[in-house]
Amino acid sequence: MTRVFSGVQPTGDIHIGNYLGAMKHFVDLQDAHECFFCVVDLHALTIPQDPDVLRRKTIEVAGIYLAIGLNPTKTTLFVQSHVPAHSELSWLLECITYFGELSRMTQFKDKSAGKENVSVGLFTYPDLMAADILLYDTNYVPVGADQKQHLELTRDIAQRFNNRFGETFVVPEPLISEVGARIMSLSDPEKKMSKSAEDEVGRINLLDTPEIVKKKIMRAVTDSENSIYYDPDKKPGLSNLLTLMSVQTGRSIEEIAADYDGKGYGLLKKDLAEVTVNTLKEIQDKYYGLSQDEIKRVLSDGAARAETIATKTLQKVQQKMGLRY
Ligand code: TYM
Repeated sequence: MTRVFSGVQPTGDIHIGNYLGAMKHFVDLQDAHECFFCVVDLHALTIPQDPDVLRRKTIEVAGIYLAIGLNPTKTTLFVQSHVPAHSELSWLLECITYFGELSRMTQFKDKSAGKENVSVGLFTYPDLMAADILLYDTNYVPVGADQKQHLELTRDIAQRFNNRFGETFVVPEPLISEVGARIMSLSDPEKKMSKSAEDEVGRINLLDTPEIVKKKIMRAVTDSENSIYYDPDKKPGLSNLLTLMSVQTGRSIEEIAADYDGKGYGLLKKDLAEVTVNTLKEIQDKYYGLSQDEIKRVLSDGAARAETIATKTLQKVQQKMGLRY
């Protein structure tokens, strides 16, 4: 069976961009593949975290995994730091990654720009991500468009390792959907919707109440024209609303644009708010029905399953690199 791996950081608030760009696809993939979905708490440490908040958010993301419909009897759900092989392989991969490669990562450039004290972990972040993926002989990695460059580096590292030490790693393919892989901020639609942006009104959190969702969508920044058509360069705000509508309803963007043209932005926003509230209601109903103990039990079983596979890969890599007798 082909393998799928992906991860979500337990930082900030999980938003509808995370869900529609990546997490929704996790659910679609779980029947046809052997899936591993991870809460990547070690990645969260690359920027300062309050330890209690990090612990709480780790459980929250795991709860959201269950609430969106991931089934722990089919799929392995676990916390990255509970499987030490991730950190160990990360170091080994750092030793075959070039400084120049990591320096070219746009996410590093964006997150470090203008900051004085940038952690080394933020710089080597892509190696830990490559370790996550390569430990499980992953075939497919469902992610949003912002992770494409990290996936390309993962492929380069896997191929380099295989060339140098002999066939070891499966070279993974990214799965990036055509629509919805880059959901933009509602308040600044030139920027992607982000967990860490201070501007709360720019994102719809999966756990936002219906009133807040409606308010955020009705206030979404659009343009002063009135005609409805998709053009992310000329009409980024409106195009983002059309995308949100399309990925939630399964209807094409063209069809939706034609439907609302001439009826004004207000009606589109009102209907989008209703659709979004319904999407979130289903998730929230399940989320608030989960107990902490239940979530922790799933994570503990998941870590045990993941560890068996990860440790085998790690030992193979250590052997190839000359670390074991
Ligand atoms: P993270 O936690 O930032 O985001 C989780 C997933 O959501 C996607 N995403 C978006 N998709 C559409 N529109 C947006 N505005 C948007 N913002 C975020 C991300 O692309 C991601 O798929 N480095 C990763 C976590 C990670 C990982 C991995 C992923 C660690 N190890 C191994 C895959 C495989 C990250 O920070 O995702």
